[in-house]
Amino acid sequence: MTDCELTITENTYLSGRLWLMKLRAPQIAHRIKGGHFLMLEVSPTYDPMGRRAFAVGDVRGDELLIFYDVVGRGTTLMSQMKAGDRIRAFGPLGKRLFSYEGDKHLLLGGGVGLAGLSLYGKELRSMGREVVFVYGARSAEHLGMLDWLREEGFEYILYTDDGSAGRKGLITEVLREFDASWTVSACGPKPMLKAIKKISKETGHVVYMSLEERMACGWGVCLGCVVRDPEGSYRRVCWEGPVFRAEEVVL
Ligand SMILES: Cc1cc2nc3c(=O)[nH]c(=O)nc-3n(C[C@H](O)[C@H](O)[C@H](O)COP(=O)(O)OP(=O)(O)OC[C@H]3O[C@@H](n4cnc5c(N)ncnc54)[C@H](O)[C@@H]3O)c2cc1C
Ligand code: FES
Repeated sequence: MTDCELTITENTYLSGRLWLMKLRAPQIAHRIKGGHFLMLEVSPTYDPMGRRAFAVGDVRGDELLIFYDVVGRGTTLMSQMKAGDRIRAFGPLGKRLFSYEGDKHLLLGGGVGLAGLSLYGKELRSMGREVVFVYGARSAEHLGMLDWLREEGFEYILYTDDGSAGRKGLITEVLREFDASWTVSACGPKPMLKAIKKISKETGHVVYMSLEERMACGWGVCLGCVVRDPEGSYRRVCWEGPVFRAEEVVL
């Protein structure tokens, strides 16, 4: 883990609520793996307090790609930053990452949750694994990472709630089309993860999920990000995760 200052090289609006921030990060880029995240200082003042957690969506040379939805004060301030500005970052964070076992991998991203899987997908492909991305959102305009999927040449299936792009319906239904020899990894809103967990009990898939609980410290000390395990103990998502097997956590 390193606390460092990175230079913003680009900060662009994509679509829906999604923005893309590119950061020059020679200090840490080589150490980042799929599933890692950073705590970014979105404001140098106490308004808002604390850093915000973001998955590293991709690494290109010494540049990091952060795909982020503008949802509140912190991300609004992020969207106002300009190329050339500097931003403090702490990371890479996350001790337990996705599994590289298995030959066939189905990666399910709900909305900006796809950013938690994108770099991992590239790693799997470079290891010769078969990778299919499944990307779902409310409507076509919220599929802002579609260009990334196309540029990278991945096979993908799209879902939207309203049918404005791809298939109409919920991303979770796709599990019934792929047999249990496919390893499933997922990142997205909690209801989506809950549904995947439920369906996988019927289909028999092994499921890994990256949880995006609210985080204050990002390195295990504040207990702000805990989830329960089935035995009633707590797991810190930032420290024992952020990736868990579906049966290891109560959602
Ligand atoms: C490990 C990890 C990785 C993440 N990766 C990404 C990413 O790649 N791209 C991205 O856009 N976001 C990501 N998030 C979520 C991101 O941290 C929050 O959206 C961000 O902190 C919101 O800050 P804000 O000040 O704009 O919003 P706030 O004002 O703090 O909150 C605004 C709204 O967003 C909700 N919210 C805040 N944090 C979260 C959260 N963690 N999960 C769900 N809802 C939240 C709040 O409940 C509230 O409704 C990640 C979170 C974690 C823990
Ligand atoms: S965010 Fe502080 S313990 Fe996880």
